[in-house]
Amino acid sequence: ASLKPFNTFSFDYAAQYFAIVHSEIELFEVICWANSNDLSVTILGGGSNLLIQGDIDGLVIVNKIIGREILHDLADTVTVQFAAGEVWHDCVTWAVDQGLGGIENLALIPGSAGAAPVQNIGAYGVEIKDILQTVKVLDRRSLEIKYFDAHDCDFGYRDSLFKHEWKELYIILAIELRLEKTPKLNLSYGGLNKLLGADSTVREVYDCVCKIRSEKLPNPEKLSNSGSFFKNPIVTNEHYAQLKMKYPDIVAFPYGDSWKLAAGWMNDKAGWKGVRRDGVGVYDKQALVLVNFNCDKADALLQLERDIKSSINGLFDVQLEREPILLGTNE
Ligand code: EPU
Repeated sequence: ASLKPFNTFSFDYAAQYFAIVHSEIELFEVICWANSNDLSVTILGGGSNLLIQGDIDGLVIVNKIIGREILHDLADTVTVQFAAGEVWHDCVTWAVDQGLGGIENLALIPGSAGAAPVQNIGAYGVEIKDILQTVKVLDRRSLEIKYFDAHDCDFGYRDSLFKHEWKELYIILAIELRLEKTPKLNLSYGGLNKLLGADSTVREVYDCVCKIRSEKLPNPEKLSNSGSFFKNPIVTNEHYAQLKMKYPDIVAFPYGDSWKLAAGWMNDKAGWKGVRRDGVGVYDKQALVLVNFNCDKADALLQLERDIKSSINGLFDVQLEREPILLGTNE
């Protein structure tokens, strides 16, 4: 089956075997089948944080298991469960409609609820790890259902065990979040505190985030992309001080004992913003986002990635890291 409709870069590669599952039972069945045929399994959610570079061996499963449920309704907080196949943004809208706070800053992030913990999605000062309580998973080998607490998942900046050691072991079935009935807004991000204040509502934050995102980030339904293509690199104090001398207008944020550099700013400074070649390019309003205008294969994009990395390394002595997960073999 062609994976083109199932990745927001719209690259056209094939899955050896392919299934769409709508319930946990269907998922168990296809996993049993894959196990008994000794096939590797790749799970796709919204396909919005992937770079598919070649055909995928084994079974590719698109998780479309849906369900939104209130598990515990306490005095100040509510625990909600979102099934992995739910569209993340629809979950955010649902929470905001009920006046529940905690995830409004994460509005309009593409992808599914089940994909959210994999890379610890984050935006405008909030990361999902801040409100995540539990991840419900299926153990691929034993077919047992297990629950992990947020602190088991080793969350970092756009990172978790689900991206590494747990990749082959567990399949995310649902996530449980703790939301606030009397929300404490997080307006730490510059763009938000300029427009909103302490008396703003969860809905105002949500509207503001949606507006900022739609001005800066391309809608994957109109222009194929996978959001930020690079992580913002973390550098030492000394490295930052050197860069600051050379580039007084550099954009960076303190990060523990280090500094996090705005890779979008660096790409912009290096002249990449709006560059278009061989059917791919750098988005003209946000230089951290690579876009695919009309390619079916990933080669031109991979070449653009290499060229940007080496230019940024030359100018800033920084090694950029790719954010989306690479799938498929390309030889
Ligand atoms: N900037 C430029 N030129 C550009 C792009 C950015 O000068 O072309 C500057 C901006 O003016 C700003 C700074 O760089 O001062 C940072 O830009 P922005 O606020 O757009 O955020 P970002 O660091 O580029 C990160 C996340 C986004 C998230 C935003 C808001 C990563 C890799 N990306 O982007 O997440 O929405 O912050 O919190 O951490 C994603 O992960 O896919 C994603 C979109």
